[in-house]
Amino acid sequence: MTTTIDQYAVMGHPIAHSQSPRIHTLFAAQTGQALEYRAILVEPGGFTAAARAFRAAGGKGLNVTVPFKQDAWVFADILSARAERAGAVNTLIFEPGGVRGDNTDGPGLVRDLTVNHGGSLAGQRILLLGAGGAARGVLQPLLAERPAHLVIANRTAEKALGLAVRFSDLGRVAACGFAELAGRQFDLIINATAAGLEDTVPPLPEGVLADGGWCYDLMYGREPTAFVLWGQEQGAARSLDGLGMLVEQAAEAFHLWRSVWPETGPVIAALRDLSYAKSGSKITGFAPTGDS
Ligand code: ATR
Repeated sequence: MTTTIDQYAVMGHPIAHSQSPRIHTLFAAQTGQALEYRAILVEPGGFTAAARAFRAAGGKGLNVTVPFKQDAWVFADILSARAERAGAVNTLIFEPGGVRGDNTDGPGLVRDLTVNHGGSLAGQRILLLGAGGAARGVLQPLLAERPAHLVIANRTAEKALGLAVRFSDLGRVAACGFAELAGRQFDLIINATAAGLEDTVPPLPEGVLADGGWCYDLMYGREPTAFVLWGQEQGAARSLDGLGMLVEQAAEAFHLWRSVWPETGPVIAALRDLSYAKSGSKITGFAPTGDS
C-alpha cells in the first residue's frame, strides 16, 4: 500500500521568487506534519482550471498570490467574512463538501504588530496609505482591533473614499488625499502603496507621525525599504517592514489547513538571515500581494 503525502501549493504569476514553499516546509518540519508544498506557475486566465486540476489530483489546499486573488475569491464556494470584505482570497481549503476561501493577509499584519512586536491597536489613530488590493485586504482585521479612527490616504483620493465607504460600518473610517494630512497626527502609519517599487515614499507632511508612533511597510526587502527609512527619519519608535506579516499570513494559512499553530519566530529569523546574508539569495517583495 502506498502512502500519499498531503499536497499544498502556491499559485501565482510570476512565482519562482515565492518564499511560501520555504516557509511552509519549515512549518511542517517544526510541527511534524507530513505534507508537501510547492510553487506552481499559472498562466494568466488559467487559475480556475489549474486549481480544479490540483484539487482533482488530491490537493488539500492552495495559497494564491498575484494576480489570482480575485479569481480565487470567485472560485471559493464558501468565504470567510474577512475574505468576503477584502474581495480577495489568498488561502483555499479543499474540503469534501466544497472549497473554503479565506484571506490571511490582514490577520498576518495584526499578529505581527501585536504579538511579535507587542503593539496595541485599540484606541490608536491609524493612517493607512494606499487604496489598492493590499489596503483593502488589511482593513477589516485592522478595524476589528478597535482603533480610535482610521484614515485612508491615497494619491487618488476618490479611491480612498470608495474604500472608506465600503468599510464604514466596521468602525470610524475616513479618507483623503496626501495633502489633506497636513496638521494631523497618527500613532501608526501603514504603507500599503506600491510607491516602494519605485523606491519612493508617498508625499507626507512633516509631523504626521505622533511622538512614539510606529511605521509599518507592507513591503520588505534585503535592505530597509524607503518607507522604513522614512519612519526612522521621523523618529518612529518602531519602523518595521512586512517580512513578519509574510510569515504570519502563512502561519494563519497553515493553521487553517492543519489545525496546528507553527512557531513563527524562528522562521522569520531564518528568512531575515537569508535576506541579509551577503551571499544568500535576495528576497524582496510585497507581503500581501507579492508573497515574495
Ligand atoms: P496592490 O494590489 O499592490 O495594492 P494596486 O491595487 O495597483 O496594487 O494599488 C497600488 C496602490 O499604490 C494604489 O493605492 C496607488 O495609488 P493610486 O490609486 O493613486 O494609483 C498606490 N501607488 C502606486 N504608486 C505610487 C506612488 N509612486 N506614490 C503613491 N502611491 C502610489
